[in-house]
Amino acid sequence: MPYPYLMMTLLFASLAVLAALDSSLASLNLLPWFNGLRWLRVHLITLGTLTELFFGLLPVLVAARARQARPRMRWDIWLVLNAGLLTLLIAIPLVNHALIFVGGTLVFIAALLLMKQLGELRGPRSEAKAANGRIFYLTGLAYLLLGIIIGTGLWLGWGEALRMSRPIEVHIHANNWGFMSLVFAGLLIDLYPSFAGRPLAWPRSIRPIYWMLTMAALLLVLGPWIPSQLFTVPGIILFLIATGWLLANVIKPLIGVPGAWGPGLWHLILSYVWIVAPVLVAPLILLEVTGFPGAGIELNAPQALIYGWVLQFGYAFLPYLFARLLLADQVARLGGTWFTVTTVNLGGVFLWASIFFAGQAAVLHGIAYGLWAVSLIPIVASLWRIARAGYSQMEDKGIAPAREQPSLAD
Ligand code: HEM
Repeated sequence: MPYPYLMMTLLFASLAVLAALDSSLASLNLLPWFNGLRWLRVHLITLGTLTELFFGLLPVLVAARARQARPRMRWDIWLVLNAGLLTLLIAIPLVNHALIFVGGTLVFIAALLLMKQLGELRGPRSEAKAANGRIFYLTGLAYLLLGIIIGTGLWLGWGEALRMSRPIEVHIHANNWGFMSLVFAGLLIDLYPSFAGRPLAWPRSIRPIYWMLTMAALLLVLGPWIPSQLFTVPGIILFLIATGWLLANVIKPLIGVPGAWGPGLWHLILSYVWIVAPVLVAPLILLEVTGFPGAGIELNAPQALIYGWVLQFGYAFLPYLFARLLLADQVARLGGTWFTVTTVNLGGVFLWASIFFAGQAAVLHGIAYGLWAVSLIPIVASLWRIARAGYSQMEDKGIAPAREQPSLAD
């Protein structure tokens, strides 16, 4: 059971609230001395909260889909991943080259070990043919490996050695369009039947969606690497088609279904607005349209992407997966409330407004982070409630948890 991963997810998500609050107060000039934690803010969410959850969840999910026994907790992977993350949390803000190398290498090894574990969890031939998320996870993790190499090398001069034109963009693209986007698609495919109570609209579309997302990520990685718009533009188009098709698969079966359109589903769908937004304005940046704040977008869009897309996607799935994994006797629902839907998306609106209204940028920035912080608090509080309830149940029953949990394949 992935309890140790869930606990680390909870810890890092709680720290993410503090980091967002810090940014809000710093932008509003209330706490200027805490500024400069930019790396921590983004990576507490991407690595600390989401990657930690994936490492715990994916083996369980892949085994369930392959009709195999639930895999045992891999403490070796857990230790290597968390040792790497903690090393990076210290090393990057201090810009300590040796420690950055150690931290990046440890996270790289952990990702490699996870890929090996998922690769070995193969089902019988008939199951392997059925559309499921395994190939999405494996390919996503391969992009993470690339993202880690480039991220680790950002201060070690590897970008120049690899002849990368814009290494930071290559890092962001490999991790977002490669790693996150593929793993998110896999999760939607694997978990949709259980949270929506019906299959996706066109299960046969899963293969083409996989190939389109994989190719889109490759092109979007090559675009800033070479650099050439001949890669970026088709990459953007492929990504938009594949994502539109995936979301249509999710939305169509639920049209007109009473009770289906709760905050959780809105979180999932609206989260994609924040990855599509920078993609849609990308042509204006590439064409260097006069008066268009290209530099401001390049500086700020990654933050909106992480809070609006990555974190908001997590708002729906984190409480759902915590409940499924920790509370055997309750029906799990996608997370979020109308309050969190409103605040997290308004945060994105204010952050984008800060790009276009440069005169009020600091205040708008501060409001955006404030909104994100208050939207995160109820989600983290619900995770704590679920975790506490799950542990009390275990303590009351005095039993090993693995035997009591429902299968994630249900
Ligand atoms: C071992 C893994 C990783 C390492 C060593 C790493 C390293 C870095 C570094 C050094 C930066 C530049 C920070 C700066 O310019 O201030 C950065 C930026 C960034 N990274 Fe990572 N990263 C890792 C994993 C990830 C993952 C998994 C994601 C997932 C999406 C991610 C997303 C980003 C984003 C969006 C930025 C831009 C932040 C901004 O502009 O504010 N990184 N990373």
